[in-house]
Formats: sequence, C-alpha cells, structure tokens
Amino acid sequence: MRVLSGIQPSGRFHWGNYFGAIRQYIELQEGNEVYYFIANLHALTSTRDKELLEQYTLDAALDLLALGVDPDRAVLFVQSDVPQVCQLFWLLLAITPMGLLERCVSYKEKRAQGIPADTGLFAYPVLQAADILAYDAELVPVGEDQKQHIEVTRDIAGRFNHLFGETFVLPRAKILQEAARVPGLDGQKMSKSYGNTIEVFDEPSVIRKKCMRIVTDSRPIEEPKEPEGDHLFQLYSLFATAEEREEMAATYRRGGFKYSDVKKALAEKAAAFFESARQRRQELEADLPRVRQILADGAATARRKAEEVLRRAQEAAGVYRSKGL
Ligand code: TYM
Repeated sequence: MRVLSGIQPSGRFHWGNYFGAIRQYIELQEGNEVYYFIANLHALTSTRDKELLEQYTLDAALDLLALGVDPDRAVLFVQSDVPQVCQLFWLLLAITPMGLLERCVSYKEKRAQGIPADTGLFAYPVLQAADILAYDAELVPVGEDQKQHIEVTRDIAGRFNHLFGETFVLPRAKILQEAARVPGLDGQKMSKSYGNTIEVFDEPSVIRKKCMRIVTDSRPIEEPKEPEGDHLFQLYSLFATAEEREEMAATYRRGGFKYSDVKKALAEKAAAFFESARQRRQELEADLPRVRQILADGAATARRKAEEVLRRAQEAAGVYRSKGL
C-alpha cells in the first residue's frame, strides 16, 4: 500500500499531532511504501515570518525523526522541494468548482478566527489534493479534521479522471478512532489556534504545569463520575495501558478521587512516554547536516515519483511539453 501524509511546520508538534497522525506514520512504515512531508507551503497561509518558517521546517524534521520516522523506510521530505506538486496544483485548480472549496470547514473556521482570506487559504485543499495525488497515494493517515480534505481530493481526482480519462488514484483517509480528535486543555480539539495545546517536546516541568491547567468540573470529590466523554480521562487513556485505563475508569465510577491526582498521573506518564524521543532529538540536533541530507535524499525520491504522475496528468489533459524535457 502506498501511504502519504503531510504536517504543517507551524510551531512545535502537540499531542493531537502525535496521537492523531504521527503515531500512525510510524506504525505504517512497516510493510508499506510511505511518504511523509513537511507542508511548508501550506504553512505560508498563516506564517509570515521568514526566520520562523525556516526554523519550524527544520524543527519539524527533527521532531519527526526523533519520534520514529525512519529514513531507511520512509521518504521524508519538505513540500517545497518538489515543484512538480505546484505544477499539478494548477492542473487541478483549473478544474475545481468554487462551490467545492466554499464548503470547506477549515476555510470557514479560519475566516471566523479573523485570518484574512487570501486566495492561498481558499485554494489550500487543492494544494493538498496535489500533494496526495502526486504520489499515487492510496492511504492518508490523518486526524478527523482532515477528513473533509481527503474527500475533496477524491472529488477533484474523480472529476479529472472523468474529464480526461483514468489518471489519478483515489485515496482514502485513515483515522484512528481513539485519537481522531484529541482534546486540548479546555476540552475543545487540541489546536495551536485555540491556545490549548501540550507540546510533545515540552520539558516535564512544563507538561506538569499544563496538565494542572486542564479544565475540570467542580463536583464534590466523592461523587461517582462517568469516564466516557471526560477529556481528562481521554488524555490519560492515550498514555495508559488497557489495564491502567480500566483501573482509572473504575476509580471515576467509584468516585472519591481528586482530579488533581489524575492530572499528576497523566503528567508523569506523558513525560516518561516521550523521554527517549526527547533524547534522540538532542542527538539529532547535534548533527544537522545529517538531517539536511535525509531531507535532500527524500526530496530526490519524491521528485521522481511526482514527475512521473505530473507527466501522466499533463499528457491526459493535453498540456504541452517539449521533447527531451
Ligand atoms: P496539520 O499540520 O494541521 O496537522 C497535522 C496532523 O495532525 C492531526 N491533528 C490532530 N489529530 C487528532 N487530534 C487533534 N487535536 C489534532 N490536531 C491535529 C491532523 O489531522 C493532521 O493529520 N492540511 C494538513 C497538512 C497537509 C496534509 C497534506 C495532510 C498538507 N497536505 C496531504 C495529509 C495529506 C494540516 O494542516 O495538518
């Protein structure tokens, strides 16, 4: 199976990114052909600081490698290193109905947050479609918030195939039920734009501080509580074994516990969970030339594949290419 996914370098990765997406990237390396990239062109729709964008792009590579993306098994690259994707983007843009993009929730949400509506933001899902279709990806591991974008990709690919003949593979999303929408400190979806995140590489003391800020209700300690739908319990479950989760669920139902104790247990588990990745990250940080080489090698492989698909799409649509080019 050919697998592809992208992640924006718009700050340090948080638990939602890890459990919703990155953990899947790592699992899918086994037995699949996998492509993972840092979506720096998408990040341009929100990051307008040159130094930050450059730094976050490299940070994202370090984070992914430290968390277990293995360059011997995965093609890891930066989006902007594959210009074929931007060429494909135009071929797709030319046949994408406005209405399809007007319905996209992420565009509507960002507008509601007051992010100015540049055309890049509006056309964002078409660039994402180009990302996916350029590698003939069949499976796209993501969190639930990206589901609509994968559906849009299918719609665009289907339309192109209908107009010009079978050209693109129709991908499907792979979403982990238990981490489809990881909650943040306030119970809403964990997201940088809501300011409710805990970062994967936060220091243990910071993790603890943030965990203590998780919003809980003010019911009396002795009152029995339902673990289902409780976001503190949901976060705890991400790090706990099945047994520990059951034990915690039983504690909730019995009542007589303090939320602050659950928060402390969560902070401890989370810090331990990411400890080895934190160490690996430090080692990688000391060898940036190696990291840059991994990205360059990944880009070369990705370009070859994207070039093949771009050529196929151009031929299908009758887009001219001079001989020998
Ligand atoms: P991005 O950078 O916002 O998020 C990266 C991945 O993390 C997942 N995620 C979550 N999953 C569960 N719970 C959460 N609270 C949570 N927050 C984030 C996202 O679903 C995503 O899988 N448009 C994409 C980047 C992209 C892309 C692509 C993805 C560009 N091209 C092609 C797949 C294929 C984005 O903004 O993800």
